[in-house]
Amino acid sequence: ATILVLHGPNLNLLGEREPAIYGGTTLSDINTRLEDLARARGHHLLTMQSNAEYELIERVHDARHEGVNFIVINPAAFTHTSVALRDALAAVDIPFIEVHLSNVHARETFRHHSYFSDLARGVICGLGARGYEFALEAALADLEQH
Ligand code: DQA
Repeated sequence: ATILVLHGPNLNLLGEREPAIYGGTTLSDINTRLEDLARARGHHLLTMQSNAEYELIERVHDARHEGVNFIVINPAAFTHTSVALRDALAAVDIPFIEVHLSNVHARETFRHHSYFSDLARGVICGLGARGYEFALEAALADLEQH
């Protein structure tokens, strides 16, 4: 199967960005780990990070024609603002898991609402970079069942 991992704005700065909140692991470390895990299980993983809302939206649209079976997404700040990215995920109807490194519920109230959670297959937050691995594990378990 093919899994697409999408990272939203400012996640390109992981490792140097507020490490007390987001940890010291870089985005390329995370992506490499996920690619290795997927490959070891015989699956194909695509990754993309963008600071631009429209690029993420277009990436989701393209996923439809690429046979992407599952999406793991950290929408970052767009979690709390983007009806447009939410609508893109609803439009393509590809199952997805929402991931956040930090526990958004223990932070500012504006981070408590997500435009994605009610559409997501599941949500993982507060477990740091390993949250992506747990999400991938859940996605693979789901795909291998069907
Ligand atoms: C985040 C949480 C968001 O509130 C924040 O805007 C981010 C990262 C996380 O992974 O913890 O950029 O999605």
